[in-house]
Amino acid sequence: MKNKIADCLKDVESFNAANIEELEQFRIKYLGKKGIIPSLFADFKSVSAEDRKEVGQEINNLKTAVQEKIVSLKENLDKGGETQVSGLDLSLPGESQLGGRHPLSLVRNEIIEIFSRIGFSVSEGPEIEDDFHNFTALNFPEEHPARDMQDTFFIERDPELVLRTHTSSVQVRVMEQSQPPIRTISPGRVFRNEAISARAHCIFHQVEGLYVDKDVSFKDLKQTLFYFAKELFGEQTKIRFRPSYFPFTEPSAEMDISCNICGGEGCNICKYTGWVEILGCGMVDPNVLEACNIDSKKYTGFAFGMGIERITLLKYQVNDLRLFFENDLRFLKQFQAAR
Ligand code: PHE
Repeated sequence: MKNKIADCLKDVESFNAANIEELEQFRIKYLGKKGIIPSLFADFKSVSAEDRKEVGQEINNLKTAVQEKIVSLKENLDKGGETQVSGLDLSLPGESQLGGRHPLSLVRNEIIEIFSRIGFSVSEGPEIEDDFHNFTALNFPEEHPARDMQDTFFIERDPELVLRTHTSSVQVRVMEQSQPPIRTISPGRVFRNEAISARAHCIFHQVEGLYVDKDVSFKDLKQTLFYFAKELFGEQTKIRFRPSYFPFTEPSAEMDISCNICGGEGCNICKYTGWVEILGCGMVDPNVLEACNIDSKKYTGFAFGMGIERITLLKYQVNDLRLFFENDLRFLKQFQAAR
């Protein structure tokens, strides 16, 4: 009997099935009602008491070997089936050039890289935000008309909740949780109730930045953003600041760069002015620091915020913002080689 089991084991090990039918024959041969395994168990009764343990184990081993063989051959045949249907070997490793990053991800990653080289960390926060973090802590008093600067989506179920209109809300959270020095940027998706057009969308992406420490001044802001503009748009880039208004910064400014398309000569992108606007910025209003438990007598800070779509439009000369959301492969493929 031992010999018979050993022969069967060899047979099982060397068996291969060309198709499902052959595999089924094999299964019936060993495991079917009148198959080899049940008959071995039947013969087992006549095995002497001293051999029982050993023989029992061998039959069990054989049974396991048969079952494992069936599972692995079936897997192979299934894969082979796919190969036949599609004509492709789906088990081959993919090519490294398969697919590419979305242009917004490319630009976001580049911005993050530029700021991380000068010590900024990345912070993230929730897209559904409460009124305090999106507005009140940022010096937007309740009922103040400044709230209308950003058309807001409210959550019907709870009027205290909004879809965040900017990622300044994340910076409030960072300030609440840590003390200066704080140097952080917050990339993320934001929402505003605006009609969709070539120049505006109700969903877009921002990177906002915050630097709070002792003796931070407007010249630190200027130098940081000058470095940023040159890294992103090239060494020849010039910057200029125009006075502006944001509730959370004082003084506030908007920053333009010399048009990266015409180099300042004048073209239809810069509307023949030679300059294009890329971000808002300013010195953090002391009220904001106080709302986040930071001593505004000891510390000062600057903040800035930019739309990633807008920067991407300028950098890659895309003329319609809606293209970023349509996932049209003819558009996306143009960025495949970009890094
Ligand atoms: N939060 C502003 C916006 O979304 C941008 C900004 C950030 C302006 C920081 C100034 C300082 O429009």
